[in-house]
Order: sequence, then C-alpha cells, then structure tokens
Amino acid sequence: MARPTVAGNWKMNTSLAEAKSLARDLRASIGDINGIDRVLCPPFPYLMLVRETVAGSSIGIGAQNMNYQEKGAFTGEVSPSMVAELCDYVILGHSERRALYGETDESVNLKVEAALKAGLKPILCVGETLAQREAGAAESIVGKQITKALDGVENASSLVVAYEPVWAIGTGVPATPELAAEIMGGVIQRNLIALYGEPAALEVPLLYGGSVNPDSVQGFMEQGCIHGALVGGASLKPEDFAHIVRTTAGVKGVS
Ligand code: PGA
Repeated sequence: MARPTVAGNWKMNTSLAEAKSLARDLRASIGDINGIDRVLCPPFPYLMLVRETVAGSSIGIGAQNMNYQEKGAFTGEVSPSMVAELCDYVILGHSERRALYGETDESVNLKVEAALKAGLKPILCVGETLAQREAGAAESIVGKQITKALDGVENASSLVVAYEPVWAIGTGVPATPELAAEIMGGVIQRNLIALYGEPAALEVPLLYGGSVNPDSVQGFMEQGCIHGALVGGASLKPEDFAHIVRTTAGVKGVS
C-alpha cells in the first residue's frame, strides 16, 4: 500500500518567529509517529530554520516551488539542488502557481524531472477549476495534467500526487470524499497504472487537498484510494494539523 502522507503547505504565511514556534509545536506533537510521512512546507526563507527545529524527529521538509534549471542568471529563483540541500519534498504545479504565475503542464513537467534528478520527492498537484467541472471536463483536465507532468518520467517510486480541486482550495468547503475518490481512484490511478504498471502505481501516495480540516479529514481517509492530505490553512494551526495527522494514521491503521 502507498505510504500515508500528510503535508502542510504554509503558503506565504508566518513570520520567522511564528515559523519556529509552529515547527517546535509540531515536533513535540507529531515528531515521532511511525508509519506516516509528515511534511512541513514553509516559505523558502524559513526552510533552514524549520529543518533545524525538527532535526532529530522523523518530520520531513518540503519547498513550495523551485526552478527547473540548475544555476545561472535567474534572479529570484531557487534551483533543484538548492532545495535538495534542505528538503525531502517539493510541491510542484500547485493551482495558485498555475493561475497566478504562469505555470503550465510543460513547465511542471520540466520541474518534476529536475526534482527527481536532484533526489527530491515531487508532490505533483492537479485539479480542475469550477468552470471546468461544470463543463464536464474534470476528468479530462486532470488526466491531461497527469500525463503531461509525467511525460518522460520513467520511475514512479519517489512520486506523490495531490488532487486539489481548485474550487475547494481555501474556500472552507471541501469536495466530498466520494467526489475526490471518483477522480483519485479513477482517472489519476488509471493514468498511473498505464504509465508505471499496477504494482508501482499503487505505491504512489495520493493526497486529497482543498479545505481539509479536523472535521473533514476522516471521511477522506476512509476512502481506500486516498492515502493522505495536502493541507493549507489548517496546517498553520498546530493542533489542527496534528489532529489531521493522527486521524490519518488512525484510519490507515498505522498508529
Ligand atoms: P487549503 O489549501 O487547505 O487552505 O484549502 C490547500 C492547498 O492549497 O494546498
């Protein structure tokens, strides 16, 4: 079975002091749980601090983005090897980056390849907008995002895929577990199986993201094809994030 995984996407939030206190609280509450990967994704300037704060625990660190190029005259950008010195994971293709910063399936593909080459685990984000869902295009959009992002990627062993319907992100209104499972156990899993074969595809952790909170997490985790969560707003509240991690571990039978 794919390893249960819960990642917190802090987005552009927290001060240095808040980042330290959040990481310290989480280290105390979820630093030593076995059988489930816990990943904190703070803003770039706090990666080092957060990494040092959780050092010695089994909490992983992730970045929220990176450039695909190795080095050079790219003012303001961060390379895969820079990220890999501090992180285990990198979130790629988040819908906010697609909508606000011009990320395309092609650039996400370059980033996934570069992340893997640098030894990082990409958390590849896919998901349809409300307009796409209402037009009946959710499946085809997500299928295209998956196949394009993974074009040329031969090995699935370090991949994590997050299904985040855009209309559920930051709205306080999550998708239903059934709707998420329809996409995740459907078009996402089908494409992964077509690309990598069933045994390897079934080892890829599939995370649901979009307004996950302590109240909604259980229903998502009860779906067999959902192995964890990518959490935005609730990841900034240490009790909420710890609750989401513990519920996931409990439902998946690893704690
Ligand atoms: P949210 O964000 O939990 O605040 O909806 C999720 C995400 O964007 O990863």
